[in-house]
Amino acid sequence: MSILITGANGYLGSYVINELLGRTRQKLILMVRGADQEERVAKLWKGMQLHMNAAEFQDALNRMELVHGDLHAKDLGWDDATRKSLLRRVTSVIHAAASLNRKSAKACFNTNLRGGMSVLMFARELANKGKLKRYSFVSTVAVAGHRQDEDIEEDAAIEWTRSDYDPYARTKKFGEHMVREVLAGESFVIFRPGILLGDGAHERTTQFDMVRALIGLADMPIVPLRPNDRIDIVNTAYAGEAIAHIHLMKEPKYDCYHLSSGAKSPTAKEILDSMEPVGVTARLLPKLESPFSWVFRAMNRAPRGSTVAGVGALMKVFWPYIRYNTVFLNDRVVEELGHEPVPFVEYSADLYRWVKANRYRYPFTELTLTDEEGAA
Ligand SMILES: NC(=O)c1ccc[n+]([C@@H]2O[C@H](COP(=O)([O-])OP(=O)(O)OC[C@H]3O[C@@H](n4cnc5c(N)ncnc54)[C@H](OP(=O)(O)O)[C@@H]3O)[C@@H](O)[C@H]2O)c1
Repeated sequence: MSILITGANGYLGSYVINELLGRTRQKLILMVRGADQEERVAKLWKGMQLHMNAAEFQDALNRMELVHGDLHAKDLGWDDATRKSLLRRVTSVIHAAASLNRKSAKACFNTNLRGGMSVLMFARELANKGKLKRYSFVSTVAVAGHRQDEDIEEDAAIEWTRSDYDPYARTKKFGEHMVREVLAGESFVIFRPGILLGDGAHERTTQFDMVRALIGLADMPIVPLRPNDRIDIVNTAYAGEAIAHIHLMKEPKYDCYHLSSGAKSPTAKEILDSMEPVGVTARLLPKLESPFSWVFRAMNRAPRGSTVAGVGALMKVFWPYIRYNTVFLNDRVVEELGHEPVPFVEYSADLYRWVKANRYRYPFTELTLTDEEGAA
């Protein structure tokens, strides 16, 4: 029995792999884009060093097989022999790879729809052979589209007449639809993470976009949000644990789970207060929202590559998700795991301190392997 995982070297993927390594003896077959084993191992190490040291990683490599795969390529870039070998061995799939480029419809359509379809067709072939035990699709709460001041349950999130904030959300919504259509009658689970921010147990992160947007906002003298506006942030370790745990369950109770903080999501005031120990003094002034939206748009038009343009671009794409005061009820995942995510306000100050000290960059270390595993 083997699990095929896409997006394994990504931020959330690294958490899923780390959890799977501790929960199952099944072989993990990781689809990683890379011309050769050395490149694939190096890419995987970049994600996994958040969770383990080089010796532990080297040990873990014995339980993992890295295959090249590109969602943009025909048949995922697999030759006949690779496909046949995978069809013989794979018994479940976790599809986590995606383009999160909210500004590029082309990237989102190619990666999330065309590529997603290729992964699904592989799973369909497995199912036709009676071999598919489970297909897990990592989607997003953004499939709920334009919202304001709502608490949303899993089954109420997708309404086809509703507009979406961006091509990323739209392609994820269609991605879910494709899973339900292509794998009707098979065992599949759809996971919808909220805003993934930090680990919850330690302050390190390898993903900075949303952290930068939130900290950029907290560093402003005035923040145009209502004090009681909630932001559905979830610690990434919780999302990784949920995906691994539920994927391995014999019979999950539901076919879709919000991986989110739900009704207990922190308010804008609680978030800013939690960052007071690191010097955040921003005041909340909701009436200023329109001028702020205008400022973000103007910043986005600053010279390409400048810091101002970078922050403006981030705020332009993330602002709708920060200001919509909408949360995604998480009773299902709490029921399955038996515990809640770590409240963001408990680790926000440590995260703030660490990302600033590291200038929004992870202090990556090079890998030196001591045997033949794609050695440096
Ligand atoms: N981060 C969040 O806040 C958040 C919230 C909700 C849902 N999600 C979902 O969680 C999943 C993982 O997101 P993440 O935050 O971990 O993003 P990430 O760090 O950017 O990881 C994306 C992964 O997808 C892979 N990928 C992209 N294009 C590919 C292609 N053409 N062929 C093969 N692999 C490709 C990347 O590989 P390369 O390194 O080769 O590009 C990487 O492994 C996504 O499905 C995302 O929609 C994330």
